[in-house]
Amino acid sequence: MIVCHCNIIKRNDIREAVHAILAADPSGRLEPQYIYRELQKRGRCCSCFPLVASIVDEMLAEAMTLVDSPALSGSTASTKRVAAGTSRG
Ligand code: FES
Repeated sequence: MIVCHCNIIKRNDIREAVHAILAADPSGRLEPQYIYRELQKRGRCCSCFPLVASIVDEMLAEAMTLVDSPALSGSTASTKRVAAGTSRG
């Protein structure tokens, strides 16, 4: 599914960029402009930015589901924040 028609960016491109940002820095910024920077693109009309933000929200919700799963039930709060990509400094 194409998310950004100006730059031909697909949903999976957004997801990979989010993973790359968080791999480099777990407290990395995930606003659309930073995701586009990771993809070496720039917003043009920026009408796709709300959809990009919703994809990021969806990914964070998925991560929170994993944190709540029994597999991670013994992990520390810090580990859970990192898993969710919400760790800050
Ligand atoms: S649709 Fe993404 S910048 Fe225009």
